[in-house]
Amino acid sequence: MSVLSRKRLNKLNVGDKLPTMKEMSDQNSIRFIDLFCGIGGFHIAAEKAAALLGVSAECVLSSDIDQPCQDVYENNFGSKPLGDISKIDANDIPDHDLLLAGFPCQPFSIIGHQKGFEDTRGTLFFEIARILKAKKPKAFVLENVKMLRGHNNGRTLGRILETLRGLGYIVDYRVLNALDFGLPQKRERIFIVGFKKRCSFTWPDGDVPMKPLSAILETDVPENYYASEYIQKKRLASRKPTGELTIWHENKSGHISAYPYSCALRAGASYNYLLVNGKRRLTPREMLRLQGFPDSFKITCNYSQSRKQAGNSLPVPTAQAILFQLFASQGWHSGLYTREIYEIKSTNKQMILLEGKSKYDCKKKSETANS
Ligand SMILES: C[S@@+](CC[C@H](N)C(=O)[O-])C[C@H]1O[C@@H](n2cnc3c(N)ncnc32)[C@H](O)[C@@H]1O
Repeated sequence: MSVLSRKRLNKLNVGDKLPTMKEMSDQNSIRFIDLFCGIGGFHIAAEKAAALLGVSAECVLSSDIDQPCQDVYENNFGSKPLGDISKIDANDIPDHDLLLAGFPCQPFSIIGHQKGFEDTRGTLFFEIARILKAKKPKAFVLENVKMLRGHNNGRTLGRILETLRGLGYIVDYRVLNALDFGLPQKRERIFIVGFKKRCSFTWPDGDVPMKPLSAILETDVPENYYASEYIQKKRLASRKPTGELTIWHENKSGHISAYPYSCALRAGASYNYLLVNGKRRLTPREMLRLQGFPDSFKITCNYSQSRKQAGNSLPVPTAQAILFQLFASQGWHSGLYTREIYEIKSTNKQMILLEGKSKYDCKKKSETANS
């Protein structure tokens, strides 16, 4: 069992400095693989969830095809992810308890029209199915965009679930919003969990108090983050400045709204898609904070790569809360944790407390048209 003292474990809280691996018993290690790992959102979440339960989590294989992501991952976790997953023989993958994968959404249209495991060959989801079939980990967590739920009238998700069930897993899914897990970012993502054996897994409620933007935004941001005078004027012409920190969001039709939280970061969005107080772009550190990455995470690539990586990442606290429940459901804990980690509070209520909710509602179409 873990060598952590009960006193120290009971004091652990989300965001606290985690116990070192040395402090953990090796026998208690949860072995996981991190597919489509990006810059390691799942990796951080797994380590933190395990530490909160008094055990350690060991990544035994990671893979991402993107070279800059591989470099950042290596700089932060000490091991370079392998490349293209389709080139990795399942026999070369170490045995593991848990498979984690935030797989790309690009092949949805292919999966949706097909019929099951055999027909999903050639898609990146198939790569996950292929590894599950060969390695049979006890559990998995997959993450994707919310749109997967309704894509092709639900047929795409249906095929995915059918394939996973066909591989002998009990599966379930939920769409969860990062706003409910303490981040000031509206990011709704679908999470699919699967278990080899029946267990009492409970989805986390969320209801974690939202961090205010003041805890995320940097001060003294360099001039080059500021939008041109033309863009700033255009923003101010479309809506009034707010009394508190807000992030201004431009939707696809050019409509501007301002909220005391960020809309979902997007890898390929325009540079002025999100502007702090309608004036400046987010810094790489701010984007990572919006995804729940700790400040100890090293930023080792340029601005445009960081922007793409943060936009592609998953919200760490949401993944951590799911993994916490999953580890507990599998009995992967030291038995020493005794208290509830997440305090219950309603994010919606907070929004009203921050400033009248209507202030952040979208302007009516007629108002925008006249501005
Ligand atoms: C949605 S992102 C996942 C990001 C990750 N969950 C994180 O927290 O940073 C999908 C990732 O899949 C990677 N990818 C795409 N095709 C791949 C392939 N054939 N083999 C391995 N990785 C691939 C992309 O480079 C991208 O980083």
